[in-house]
Amino acid sequence: MTDSANWSPSSWRNFPAQQLPPWPDPDEYQQAVETISAFPPLVFAGEIRALKDILAKAAEGEAFLLQGGDCAEDFSQCTAPYIRETLKVLLQMAIILTYAGRKPVAKVGRIAGQFAKPRSSNMEKIGDQELPSYRGDMVNAPEFTPEARRPDPQRLIKGYYTSCATMNLLRAFTKGGYASLQRVHSWNNDFVKNSPIGQSYEQLAEQISMTLSFLENIGLKVDSPQFNQANVYTSHEALLLGYEEALTRRDSISGEWYDCSAHMVWIGDRTRQLDGAHVEFFRGIHNPIGLKIGPSYDLDETLRLIEKLNPENEAGRLTLITRFGAGKVGDYLPRLARGVRGAGHKVVWCCDPMHGNTYVAESGHKTRNFDDIMAEVRGFFDIHRAEGTIPGGVHLEMTGENVTECIGGGRKIENDHLKLNYATQCDPRLNAEQSLDLAFHLAQMINS
Ligand code: PEP
Ligand code: CO
Repeated sequence: MTDSANWSPSSWRNFPAQQLPPWPDPDEYQQAVETISAFPPLVFAGEIRALKDILAKAAEGEAFLLQGGDCAEDFSQCTAPYIRETLKVLLQMAIILTYAGRKPVAKVGRIAGQFAKPRSSNMEKIGDQELPSYRGDMVNAPEFTPEARRPDPQRLIKGYYTSCATMNLLRAFTKGGYASLQRVHSWNNDFVKNSPIGQSYEQLAEQISMTLSFLENIGLKVDSPQFNQANVYTSHEALLLGYEEALTRRDSISGEWYDCSAHMVWIGDRTRQLDGAHVEFFRGIHNPIGLKIGPSYDLDETLRLIEKLNPENEAGRLTLITRFGAGKVGDYLPRLARGVRGAGHKVVWCCDPMHGNTYVAESGHKTRNFDDIMAEVRGFFDIHRAEGTIPGGVHLEMTGENVTECIGGGRKIENDHLKLNYATQCDPRLNAEQSLDLAFHLAQMINS
C-alpha cells in the first residue's frame, strides 16, 4: 500500500491524537497493551478479505451493507440472550433486504469490540461536581463517581476477553444452525403477525415463504450451508489506538498488516484529521475501513483523506459513512457525492441516519425520531441517484431489546414512553420493532 516503508503499527504515536484517554498510570497502561499484544487475534485476514470482496460489490451497487448494533456495548450485557437478540434482528433485517432489495447483504455488527467512545466534552458536570466523561467500558465506568470515571487499563484486557466471548457466540450461532433461513423467516412472520404495522408487510413475508418452500420442493437441502449458516462480520470505531496496535498482525499469507480486533473498523467524525494519529494508523492496515463524515467536513480535505486512506483506489477498501441529519443531508451530501465522483474514487456510500438526528427531549433523554431517521435515509437514496453515485449501505444504532429510546415507529413511541425502558449507555437505539420497520421501508428504496 502507500508509502509502507514509513508506516508501522506504532507510527501513529508520532502524530497528534484526539480523544485518547489520559491513563493516570502510564506503566500500568503499557503493561496492559503488551499483554494484549501477546493474545491471539480475534479475526483472521482471510475473513477480512471476504468482507472486503462483498464491499467491493457494494461500491458497484451489486451488494448492500447493513451495519448496526449498540452505540456503546456494555460489559454487563455480554450475555447469551442479549447477543442472541441483537444477532436475531440483524439477520431478520438482512433477509428482508436480500429478498426485496435483490442483492446480497453484508451483515456487519457494531459488536464484539464497540467499547470506546469519543466525547464532545472531556468533563461532565452534575450540580457542583465535575468528573471526567464516560468514554466507554473499555476505558471507565458510567457511574458518576471519581472512582468509576478513572481510566483503568485493566478494562482494555476485559474488553479483549468480552469481545472474544461475544465473537465466540456469534460464530456458534451463525455456523451452528441458529441462523437458518427458515428460522429467521419465521421470526419475521411473528413480527408481521404481532406488530401494529406488521400487516403492511404481509405480502412481502408471504413471497419469501413461497420462495423458501419452492427451493425446498425442488430438492435444495435445508441443512446446506446456504440455508442454515450466515456470515456475520464485526466492526467498531478503532478509537483506542494502543489497543488496536496491539491486535494488528502481519498476515502470514499476504505479508500485509491487518487490525485483527474486528473485520471492519472505522474512523469517527471527531478523529478524521488528515495529519492526525488515527488517519496515520488506518492508512497502513488492510482491513476494509469506514470514515464517518458529518457537516463539518471540508471537501478538499476529504478528497485528500480519501487518497491517503485508499491510494490505490481499491473498491471495498473505503466506506464513507455520512451522518448529516435529515435537515442537512440535502445541503451537505450532493456536493460531497459530486466531488468524490468527480475525483474518480471508488467508495461504498453508507448512510448513518442516527448521529445527525439526535436531540434532547423535554424529559431530558437524548433521543431520535424515527421519521427523521427515515427522512435522512430517503434523502440519501434520492441524492445519490440524482448524482449518479450508488447508495450502498446503512449504519444504524439498534438493539434486539424492547427499549424505548427513539420516538415513533410502528408502535408510536412518544416522549412520555422514553422513561419506560431507556437502557443505553450512550446514544438512543432503534428497538427490534423499529429496526424491522426500517428494514421493510429500506427494502423498497433499494429496489426502486
Ligand atoms: C458513533 O458512531 O457512535 C459516533 C460517535 O459517531 P460519529 O463519529 O459519527 O459522531
Ligand atoms: Co453513537
